[in-house]
Amino acid sequence: MFKPTVALCRQLTLGLLKPDLCANPIAVSQIQKRIREANFEVVETKDLVWTKSEAEKFYSEHEGKFFFERLVGYMTSGPFQALILSKDNAIKDWRSLIGPTHPVRASINAPDTLRSIYGLTDTRNSFHGSDSDETAKREIEIFFPEFDVEQWRTKEKKDSSS
Ligand code: CDP
Ligand code: MG
Repeated sequence: MFKPTVALCRQLTLGLLKPDLCANPIAVSQIQKRIREANFEVVETKDLVWTKSEAEKFYSEHEGKFFFERLVGYMTSGPFQALILSKDNAIKDWRSLIGPTHPVRASINAPDTLRSIYGLTDTRNSFHGSDSDETAKREIEIFFPEFDVEQWRTKEKKDSSS
């Protein structure tokens, strides 16, 4: 019989509940419920407001694109929430739960996703999710400099193999 040699390991991702969403406390509590139902552990949360330069730095990969100024304006428009989420396949599963970047496309192709339900426009799409292990580490360190990603991963590997 096939026996996997590598144990399944929990993964971390960085999620954002963007400003349009955080302006609506009822929506935030509905989303917390969806997060729990999808078996994510909420490891840390932080409420914050960004300066223009913080938003520009986080989204620097999009600098020069037509939507960049619009995105920075949106992300500095009010308080928002950062979350460290954990589960098996957290990165892929969180991006699946939030759905496609564009809410209109999400409502057609993935109507049950969070961006389909809560997203407003291509820019004001209510959620962010890291897209790789490397990005997750970089993004977690931006919002939670006190959180040691490598230490968490080492402990997780040890726990899952014992
Ligand atoms: O957030 P995600 O990784 O799904 O998409 P992205 O392509 O990395 O874009 C980052 C963010 O830029 C999106 O979440 C949108 O808020 C914004 N965006 C936009 O305003 N207009 C677009 N045409 C594409 C993205
Ligand atoms: Mg992205």
